[in-house]
Amino acid sequence: MSVWRVKPISAFEAEMKKSDLKRVLTRWGLTSLGIGAIIGGGIFTLTGIAAHDFAGPALALSFVIAGIGCLFASLCYAEFASVLPVEGSAYSYAYGTVGELFAWFIGWNLILEYMMGATTVAVAWSGYFVKLLHLFGIDFPIWLCNDMTTAAEKCAELGMAAPGFAFNLPAFLITWVVTAVLVKGIKEAASTNNIIVVIKIAVVLFVIIVGAFYIKTENWTPFIPEKVPVLDDAGAATGKFTFGFGGVLTAATIVFFAYIGFDAVSTQAGEAINPKKDVPFAIVASLVICTVLYILVSLVLTGMVKYDQLDKAAPVASAFSGIGLNWAVFFITIAATAGLTSVMLVMMLGQTRIFLGMAKDGLLPKGMFGALHPKFKTPYRSTILVGAIVSIIAAVTPIGKISEMCSMGTLLAFAMVCVAVMMLRYKKPELDRPYKTPALYLVGTLGVSFNIFLMMFVRPETWVAFLIWGTLGIIVYFLYSKRNSNLEKSKDKEVDFL
Ligand code: ALA
Repeated sequence: MSVWRVKPISAFEAEMKKSDLKRVLTRWGLTSLGIGAIIGGGIFTLTGIAAHDFAGPALALSFVIAGIGCLFASLCYAEFASVLPVEGSAYSYAYGTVGELFAWFIGWNLILEYMMGATTVAVAWSGYFVKLLHLFGIDFPIWLCNDMTTAAEKCAELGMAAPGFAFNLPAFLITWVVTAVLVKGIKEAASTNNIIVVIKIAVVLFVIIVGAFYIKTENWTPFIPEKVPVLDDAGAATGKFTFGFGGVLTAATIVFFAYIGFDAVSTQAGEAINPKKDVPFAIVASLVICTVLYILVSLVLTGMVKYDQLDKAAPVASAFSGIGLNWAVFFITIAATAGLTSVMLVMMLGQTRIFLGMAKDGLLPKGMFGALHPKFKTPYRSTILVGAIVSIIAAVTPIGKISEMCSMGTLLAFAMVCVAVMMLRYKKPELDRPYKTPALYLVGTLGVSFNIFLMMFVRPETWVAFLIWGTLGIIVYFLYSKRNSNLEKSKDKEVDFL
């Protein structure tokens, strides 16, 4: 059946040779892109909710669990990246191995990961930006920095009437700033990103080193607070737990978002100087560096402030205001604002490169998604389209809804990558693999199991939205992509089926 046709490895190699993208990224440049994509809203904001409501001081354990699961997926990604160093990420890998429909479906899920990831972070950025302005004595009206639902909730908390209209203007505007940087080009984007990554790591190290002096070890006891079932508004069990080991697992699904982004490195292979070696290195290195930092930050935070006193909106900054270091609050807020910008940059960049890969294969319209700017050599049309979609959704949607869709798409994409890399090793053992995943069948199976397991913890309404999105993807595939695929057009010629 033609939906299982695979793109020949030779076609990937030919494409790599004639790519128009400039090869400017080094091994550490790629790692920096990875860290730029990873450290963001997850550590700066979601740690508060995860510790306060679900894990308590065992937040560090949640980070370990989520980190181990991501490590399995990252090791699989790394092997794939060494075999197929092309832009397009997991989508391309699947196209070269499992088949077109599977690949299309991964690409469709990556849209959730990258576009919804960028959207989530745009909303988080807005929160920090508004906080920053507040430090300067400027207060944004609630209706101009929130979506309708969040604005109504905030007004209710303050005993005010809900506004008739609300629009998250900062989230909308930052998206267009990032879009403009990306249209101009990867080189500028990469150097901007490097500066931001340095600031971001500096602030994280600052939190760890300075915060360590303010740890009160009694805040870590009990390490895992006693288990309490979560009830819905009608008093029925939701299947979630606060605290106890169940709470630690729920917190792991929340902080999973903090790790998303290491795979963005794989979308940059087309711009890497030595992709076969450096992309696998950067994928694993960026994840490992962030995992260590996250575990230390969560230990410090829950040691500085009793978990039930942690601020849910800006836990990292607030922990320092609690000990009277107001200058540190200022520093952390600025760094977080800059840091979130770099996450958006990489997420949106990744999205356009995935579209580019799909357009080159004929699965998406080439005019819209494949055209490169004559001077900047960037896929400017799709960048502007992505900017338009991200900015509008960010302006009108609550952050929780967007981030869950992002996690859902990512978890499925990770699981599919683990399956695909095992299939490739089994069916084409002779391929040149500059990087080989150790104990692949064990690592891959654990990766699939872990990611599917975490999907079970997502809310039912997210599942519904996810199933609708998936169905839409299948329809688009059969109505457009299957018919326009390059492989369809060359079906009389020899195709390298596995
Ligand atoms: N890992 C990224 C973040 O935490 C998506 O914002």
